[in-house]
Amino acid sequence: MGEEGIFSMMRDFYAELEDSTIRHMFPEDMETASKRSAAFFVGLLGGPPLYQQQFGNPMMRARHLPFAIDEQARKVWLDCFDRVLTDSNEKYRFPQNHLADFRRFLAEFSAWMVNTR
Ligand code: HEM
Repeated sequence: MGEEGIFSMMRDFYAELEDSTIRHMFPEDMETASKRSAAFFVGLLGGPPLYQQQFGNPMMRARHLPFAIDEQARKVWLDCFDRVLTDSNEKYRFPQNHLADFRRFLAEFSAWMVNTR
């Protein structure tokens, strides 16, 4: 799907977050925020380590600590991603043979971001 596909997918994901009940957690400028996340996902999905190059050590759990993330917020976040991944082959050329693994990663990694009961 290339970097372009990933940046486009994350733009759409942040558009979903924009309309969600967890909108208040995110910064005003969702375009810039989506690019920070996209940089991370490019590295995660086998591309160059853009996030580390631009922002340093990911330390994702630590970076999420300022936000009170509970199970409900995690669910909203995952539902937003789920909608984006629908028809992801047509929209971003997401290789569908990797989709199940990617969904599993999101489900597991997002559980690690929960820091509030
Ligand atoms: C697979 C799980 C997740 C991954 C890979 C992930 C990844 C990221 C990345 C790369 C950033 C940008 C960090 C930066 O500012 O440099 C970020 C920011 C953020 N994430 Fe997550 N995240 C995950 C789960 C969640 C969940 C479940 C929530 C809340 C429900 C959440 C809320 C936020 C918020 C509020 C920000 C700050 C927005 C900003 O300033 O850019 N994240 N996340």
